[in-house]
Amino acid sequence: MLPSHFHFGVGTSSYQVEGAPHEGGKLPSIWDVYSHVPGHIKNGDTGDVAVDFYHRYKEDIALAKELGVDTFRFSLAWTRLVKEDGSVNLEGVAFYRSVLEEIHRQDLRPVITLYHWDLPQYLEDRGGWKERSILDAYLNYVSIVKEHLLDLCTDFLTFNEPQCFLYLGYQNLGHAPGKVYTFDEMMRAAHNVLMCHFKAQKLLKEGHPEVTVGFVNTMNGVIPENDDPQLWKAIQENFFKTPKGTKDFYTQSIYMDPLYLHHYPKEVEDYLREHNILEPGDLDLIKEGKDDTVYLNLYTSNHCYLDEKGQYHSERRPTKEKQGYLDWLIQEPETLYYTPKLIQERYHLPIVISENGDAVEDTLTPDGHVHDPRRSSYLLSYLHEMERAIDDGVDIRGYFYWSLCDNLEWSEGFGPRFGLIYIDYKNNLRRIKKDSFFDYHKFIRENR
Ligand code: NOJ
Repeated sequence: MLPSHFHFGVGTSSYQVEGAPHEGGKLPSIWDVYSHVPGHIKNGDTGDVAVDFYHRYKEDIALAKELGVDTFRFSLAWTRLVKEDGSVNLEGVAFYRSVLEEIHRQDLRPVITLYHWDLPQYLEDRGGWKERSILDAYLNYVSIVKEHLLDLCTDFLTFNEPQCFLYLGYQNLGHAPGKVYTFDEMMRAAHNVLMCHFKAQKLLKEGHPEVTVGFVNTMNGVIPENDDPQLWKAIQENFFKTPKGTKDFYTQSIYMDPLYLHHYPKEVEDYLREHNILEPGDLDLIKEGKDDTVYLNLYTSNHCYLDEKGQYHSERRPTKEKQGYLDWLIQEPETLYYTPKLIQERYHLPIVISENGDAVEDTLTPDGHVHDPRRSSYLLSYLHEMERAIDDGVDIRGYFYWSLCDNLEWSEGFGPRFGLIYIDYKNNLRRIKKDSFFDYHKFIRENR
């Protein structure tokens, strides 16, 4: 049984849906620039038009209402709200105020992601996330949001998946800006992101205790091969490890431990100290953090087991049935059972599933329908596992399906479709509700 206060939602992000890169005084973001370099995005796709949310937000918000969700998660484009000299762009403010007003008019609750990967290009040109000066720029942006939008929204997420945007974007793994940071720079960037989060959280909550400010994490979840308690213990020990010099040093626990335990993993803190990355007051800021909910974007999991020698292993298990359109996305419904459980055992906080969804190569039938049984079975089986976790005592408070509608899947272009609503790219971006739209609608209705 889902608790009565449970939030059902859907999510989108600015670059993936808005389009209109030259309207309303918008400045270029790293994705505007990156996507225009031939070879960066499949099929030469770009977010220049995306799904035209900029002009069609009323229609999309109405569709979210019809879906039956209560929460509409979307992101602000920093490049619409702040001019290069740091002053406010009132046209950008007007646009987001209209979007927020529409969300309220439809009696939905907005959740704003402040940073969903579209850094202003001029900040990237100044060095991007590895520069400490990015804190001033980010806080200036957040102060503009506070001054102009706080009366219309009280729930904020400072960052979406730094585990992805820093790693993929700054190890040149196919995301903007396509740079390669050194290990030391990766550590600086991760620390700067966290400092931005804590300072923004303080700023937004100052004088507004009702405001919530979270941080969105992502990870490959875990599925134990059997219910041997030794195996679960091994998962608990291994999952949060930060082996020196590896990628794991600057992903998962570098964020989650400071956010929810109020300190860095010891070896990470030592590194930051030894390399003069910490500044006076940084650790105090972490101690005073106010995160009271863990936001998790969960899509898939590794299978975990102990071999005959008791050695721990964790591996992907793609099979023909479970492997979908995207390589990394293997259908593993138990992701939503075991991973929230593991996270709660370590951090003892309520959890919101801020993203979960499947990419399918949908087709439109001649009579205008989209039959997507694979997405429906993904959605319903994951929801079922989430419910099982709740029944077993895991405090999950919300589930936001990714995504409301098909959109630009970053470097993968428009090919992978994550939406509950089909976008007919060949026909004026017509919106068509897929079968899964009705299945999610039904589930919500039955579980309210
Ligand atoms: C992660 C990101 O937050 C979102 O932008 C992306 O489209 C989905 N997951 C699917 O990959």
